[in-house]
Amino acid sequence: MAVKKERRDFLGMALGGFTAVGGVFALGAAKSSWDPLPSVKAAGFTTVDLANAAPNDLIVEKWRGKPIFIIKKTAKMKAHDRDVIIGSDRFHVSIGLCTHLGCIPAYFPDTTEFICACHGGMYDVNGEVIKAPPPSPLVVPPFKVDGTKLVLGEPGEDYKKMQAAGLTA
Ligand code: FES
Repeated sequence: MAVKKERRDFLGMALGGFTAVGGVFALGAAKSSWDPLPSVKAAGFTTVDLANAAPNDLIVEKWRGKPIFIIKKTAKMKAHDRDVIIGSDRFHVSIGLCTHLGCIPAYFPDTTEFICACHGGMYDVNGEVIKAPPPSPLVVPPFKVDGTKLVLGEPGEDYKKMQAAGLTA
């Protein structure tokens, strides 16, 4: 009889132990499903290292599902208030969506112009409109400069100044 009771106690403890371990795993699994995925956490920011960017070469990055245009300006290109300065280099940085109806303009390095095929709108290398119908310049996304890197999605001091000066929407 004593042996049966001990056996029952052992089975009870073992079952309790399994249940407790299972509960801990279930809680862990539930917590990890509540936490945002790493990709979601990082989705708000895109970091681009521009140390090796070639002059007048269009770089297209993606930030929050939008195309971002980045062009390292050549020494011949005039400085502009919307330039993003990284080290001793100047960059054009904009959201690559036409401000007319949202098409993606194409960059032509020979003429250093963006042309929107939808309705013929044109922008210069600073993103300023040179031919209607776009009503306003290409929009500069929130950015911060970190060494040779451009962090898209984080409004740094230079971006805030641009916005305060009405240089971008
Ligand atoms: S959408 Fe670009 S000109 Fe109309």
